[in-house]
Amino acid sequence: MPTDSVDPGYLDMDRIPRHVGCVMDGNGRWAEQRGMARTEGHARGEHALFDVIEGALELGIEWLSVYAFSTENWNRPEDEVRFLMNFNRNILRSRCEELNQMGVRIRFVGRRDWRVPKGVVQEMDEAIELTRCNKRLTLVVAFNYGGRAEIVDAVRKIAEQQIPASRITERTIARHLYDQEMPEPDLIIRTSGEYRISNFLLWELAYSELVFTDVLWPDFDRRDLFAAIAQYQDRHRRFGQVQ
Ligand code: IPE
Ligand code: IPE
Ligand code: MG
Repeated sequence: MPTDSVDPGYLDMDRIPRHVGCVMDGNGRWAEQRGMARTEGHARGEHALFDVIEGALELGIEWLSVYAFSTENWNRPEDEVRFLMNFNRNILRSRCEELNQMGVRIRFVGRRDWRVPKGVVQEMDEAIELTRCNKRLTLVVAFNYGGRAEIVDAVRKIAEQQIPASRITERTIARHLYDQEMPEPDLIIRTSGEYRISNFLLWELAYSELVFTDVLWPDFDRRDLFAAIAQYQDRHRRFGQVQ
């Protein structure tokens, strides 16, 4: 069944999560299962990502964040890291205009340190600039991102401003995270059958609903997104209260 004919009609359109985060995992295993190089799995992940973006637009999700490269992923073999850098640069170059036409605003969270190649940084800046006025969906790409690194960077910014310790609150930390506008995720989806967070949005996910699926990322599409949202709609969020 072509994915663009999937009807999300079974979802409650009044309770669509505002921000959905995705840990796009399982590319390597998808490829290995088919006797292919791991990098083929990353390449196939592009299709999944774009189908999920279209599904998010269909539902009117406002924020979609996707984990593309973690601060720990530098520890992978050099040729895989090089592939991922080139791959991300090429996607930005070749598909940014399409995302722009779709009304997607692109942002990035993560460290822009010396390890990120200049060509990638340049494409990131161009994508941000080109899409900055779009309003349908904000796509936040977590690239060279680590939740702990984000908290460390926030603490460093606070220390630089010499804010007295007694005046530091949760709001102070939240205000120094990478993206000031990004709401906390309502729902985080992790693919590939792993039940962990792997350093994604650690501060922000305090009260997010978590959905884990065995589907490997290259096989994931908007139907799986809708199914995860159906699970989300079955949950009762209490935020620590009695309700
Ligand atoms: C996720 O897929 C993509 C990145 C981490 C960049 P993996 O490459 O982690 O795939 P598996 O988990 O080894 O199958
Ligand atoms: C998380 O996946 C990072 C991304 C999806 C970019 P990993 O494959 O790196 O996480 P672990 O190693 O299974 O925890
Ligand atoms: Mg993995």
